[in-house]
Amino acid sequence: MSHRVALIPGDGVGQEVTAEARRAVDALDLAIEWTELPWGSAHYAEHGAMMPPDAIDVLRAHDAVLLGAMGDPSVPDHISLWGSILAMRQPLDLWANLRPCRLLPGIPSPLAGREPGDFDILFVRENTEGEYSGAGGRAHHGHPTEVAVEAGIFTRAGIQRVVRHGFELAAGRGGLLTSATKSNASRFGYVLWDEVCEEEAARFPDVRYERVLVDALAARMVRSPESLDVVVASNLFGDILTDLAAAIQGGMGMAASANVAPGAEGVPGVYEPVHGSAPDIAGRGIANPAGAIWSASLMLEHLGEADAAARLMRALEDVCRDGPRTGDVGGSATTREVGDAVVAALR
Ligand code: NAI
Ligand code: MG
Repeated sequence: MSHRVALIPGDGVGQEVTAEARRAVDALDLAIEWTELPWGSAHYAEHGAMMPPDAIDVLRAHDAVLLGAMGDPSVPDHISLWGSILAMRQPLDLWANLRPCRLLPGIPSPLAGREPGDFDILFVRENTEGEYSGAGGRAHHGHPTEVAVEAGIFTRAGIQRVVRHGFELAAGRGGLLTSATKSNASRFGYVLWDEVCEEEAARFPDVRYERVLVDALAARMVRSPESLDVVVASNLFGDILTDLAAAIQGGMGMAASANVAPGAEGVPGVYEPVHGSAPDIAGRGIANPAGAIWSASLMLEHLGEADAAARLMRALEDVCRDGPRTGDVGGSATTREVGDAVVAALR
């Protein structure tokens, strides 16, 4: 059976890295039907929107979406983000964002004395509510009394499904689930979060559960990342912790993510590198395609192509270990040269 994949290169380096991810997937000789969708800031300049009005229906007609990044200095970031990735996560109800964090051989980490294999963390980020629900408003524009309300929305159902998925994933890995919380300062949302975690913990007696205040957890990621296995976090906390995670695994160019709705039928997952469009290096052909290629491997896994996903990951690991590597991870190769090497490793 062939897989219908929507490819959204987007803006800036998104275009450069998804080109290599696509070539790598094509080198696996699977039956993939690509639909390239030219959405992003150029679409905004022409039509006043990052995506067409029927975007969600178009995406629903596919089995998966591979996305580069969207955002450009010509469009305010809250408009480009709410018109693109956030306009997919909520309408498609992609409630879990999975972000693996491990240091691949050959990739330097800013953590002193850390070797590949020292840590292997899977972040499970709540992806539809919390502080990024989009609920709020502003009043008294321009006056000294101007006010902005950004409401954090926490629902029992929303917390439960993502925490439960975290426990399920932990059960199949190292058996530890760490919940990032802030229930000392936040008296409502994170207290409910903790209560739901306790309830779910009782359903998974074989998984060790701990809750850690998010600030302490950030410090622990630097000091002893090997002590973590699966981390479940709210939308905001997961966003911030996974940029830190990207840094300890070698930088933004390395980090991969999967936006998914586990168990839902007919909902395409959206797979994307964690990084943005990187306007500071866009157009120079020097962006690291590793995060995009890793994301493509996550996509294949979720499409049921476990062998191909593993082959792609092995090829990426070979190239990270033996080179060529891009400048952000200590090399001097171009995006294309790294892509060529991954394709060669697959053949
Ligand atoms: P960014 O991730 O684009 O860049 C942060 C830093 O990481 C920059 O120094 C950049 O050069 C570097 N970097 C990023 N990707 C890289 C790669 N593949 N290889 C080597 N170095 C890489 O984040 P920034 O600058 O905060 O945002 C730029 C734009 O991207 C903004 O418009 C933002 O809204 C958007 N954005 C979009 C996302 C998405 O589409 N999911 C996610 C994050 C940001
Ligand atoms: Mg982020």
